[in-house]
Amino acid sequence: MTSRYADIYESWRRHPEGFWAGVASSEIDWIKPWDKVFDPALSVYGRWFPGAECNTCWNCVDRHAEKQPDATAIIYDSPITGAKRLISYGELLSDVKALAAVLRERGVVKGDRVIIYMPMIPEAVTAMLACARLGAIHSVVFGGFAAPELATRIDDAKPKLVVSASCGIEPGRIVSYKPLLDEAIELAAHKPEACLILQREQERCDLIAGRDHDFADSVEKARGTEVACEPLAATDPLYILYTSGTTGQPKGVVRDNGGHMVALKWTMRAIYGIEPGEAFWAASDVGWVVGHSYIVYAPLLHGCATVVFEGKPVGTPDAGVFWRIISEHKVAALFTAPTAFRAIKKEDPDGRFIPQYDLSSLRTLFLAGERADPDTIQWAEEHLKLPVVDHWWQTETSWAIAANPVGLGLLPVKYGSAGVPMPGYDLQVLDDAGHQVDAGTLGNIAVKLPLPPGCLPTLWNADERFRESYLAEFPGYYQTADAGYCDADGYVFVMSRTDDIINVAGHRLSTGAMEEVLAAHPDVAECAVIGVADQLKGQVPRGFVVLKAGAARDATELQAECVSRMRAEIGPIAAFRTLYVVQRLPKTRSGKILRATMRQIAEGETPRVPATIDDPAILDEIKAAMAVG
Ligand code: COA
Ligand code: AMP
Repeated sequence: MTSRYADIYESWRRHPEGFWAGVASSEIDWIKPWDKVFDPALSVYGRWFPGAECNTCWNCVDRHAEKQPDATAIIYDSPITGAKRLISYGELLSDVKALAAVLRERGVVKGDRVIIYMPMIPEAVTAMLACARLGAIHSVVFGGFAAPELATRIDDAKPKLVVSASCGIEPGRIVSYKPLLDEAIELAAHKPEACLILQREQERCDLIAGRDHDFADSVEKARGTEVACEPLAATDPLYILYTSGTTGQPKGVVRDNGGHMVALKWTMRAIYGIEPGEAFWAASDVGWVVGHSYIVYAPLLHGCATVVFEGKPVGTPDAGVFWRIISEHKVAALFTAPTAFRAIKKEDPDGRFIPQYDLSSLRTLFLAGERADPDTIQWAEEHLKLPVVDHWWQTETSWAIAANPVGLGLLPVKYGSAGVPMPGYDLQVLDDAGHQVDAGTLGNIAVKLPLPPGCLPTLWNADERFRESYLAEFPGYYQTADAGYCDADGYVFVMSRTDDIINVAGHRLSTGAMEEVLAAHPDVAECAVIGVADQLKGQVPRGFVVLKAGAARDATELQAECVSRMRAEIGPIAAFRTLYVVQRLPKTRSGKILRATMRQIAEGETPRVPATIDDPAILDEIKAAMAVG
């Protein structure tokens, strides 16, 4: 089939508003139509569908439950606990209404914030949808974050209520969520009025009288209560999702209701080639944007069955679990991070588990979250004998900036490229002065404003930070903070971040935040954290510290202390394990630490040493420290 991509992209380019209005009219139920498709005068750079009213929960649940109550909405498969459950659209509607009734009884109304801190269980999805039903703004916090990270989010979002669970389950250990939640609330200046706690059988927790309420009891008592979908402005926030910025203060990415539904619904057919009723599996976590968009909202908007998977690609119980899930639930598309495939490839290099399962339902594998290395793509292609599609996006956008749109007809795959720009994105590669560079030349990847529906209109309570972080450097453009190039055929190659964000096993983390943790150690005078290439996780952090005068410390002991601080302050997902004690850090004459040069040394490259370096001899000291290990 020849691809319709070029025609579709061109049709968007000619009539951007007509393009999105067409999707909005045919794919989404509205309570009231929009006054304008896009108004550039509103908010920071404009807003999509102002004047319109809608409800995301209605579009994800009620409309399907009316037509096909018995169709499967959620496939919960938890190899880590052995639990499995199919939830129909009818059951999901009953669960969501009951939980919405509980929230309403606790005083949650439109515009209130609710933090959801939960493992990968269906109740996390129900909680998101119950908020959407009421117009409450949810903010899901990934379970792998430590209490101080949760506290920062509580203080920024100021939730009226927190929904959580007694525990999560990781291979070989139970993660007690409740003590982390209690500590976070203790640390935070803002105190939520109530917590709704799901008691899991693997580990129950104590509830604090007056503040904590049992999730299951409350929901069962409220079962059958009618709670209508709240009419919301298309521009009202659906959720806030915090993501790493360049400091320890995460950015609260705001998502609206209307534009978000329009964009995500379009992607299900056009990018993923999926039909309503099919099973779609994003093997991610609801704490990340991939989980928000492709475990929860997009598949449900499209009337699909979505897989909620509580497990790991390896070790739960083996490297065949992905194939077992695909065959058992007839999954049509799998979406995961390359790191998951690297983990499978490492355990099962010859793909011996694959032929043990019937994978005939699977049509495409989608990868995102980090750069997909050609080795991993080729291994997956060879063993699955399917198209493997890399696509590129960010928490900020909620859907792919560039992809190979399977539903429009697959374009030739180019290894190392994340595909071509999707309609809505006028992608340009700019030099540091903001001029467009030629095809093949590396530069800053930017999107000409306006951003399409689904992308963030601003940061939570921080319009100015939004302008400064994303719009100020290249006026008229959204700066992606990714560097790369476009080739002569328009394919995008995303190479690296231009800021201090690193990508560890598909998790976006700030080295700036990690430096803040090291700097707080009483013996540390100065520090730097860099991301270094890793065969499994893509990148891992490494720390360098200069001790305060007079602080004589055993390096192994200091490393253990810093690792433990990092786990307690940021969380185990930081995967921080290596610390070097050095005499000095390499800097420019103006005092800027040469992190990029240090990374090049760590990765065995010939370092590009800037002419402004203060003392080149320090680079040899850094090299020697890393060689000793
Ligand atoms: N709650 C609590 N702790 C969590 C957690 C969660 N939800 N998720 C991860 N952790 C912990 C792990 O237990 C581990 O702790 P440890 O240091 O005590 O062992 C640590 O955080 C690092 O976890 P992880 O990143 O999962 O690394 P791993 O070495 O255990 O496993 C992979 C490696 C590749 C199997 C795993 O990273 C993976 O499945 N990656 C896919 C990532 C993904 O889907 N990203 C989403 C973007 S699309
Ligand atoms: P997150 O906001 O967690 O989704 O992380 C977004 C960042 O991950 C992007 O800015 C990129 O740096 C990186 N990323 C995501 N997908 C890709 C991809 N397909 N190729 C290269 N980098 C990617």
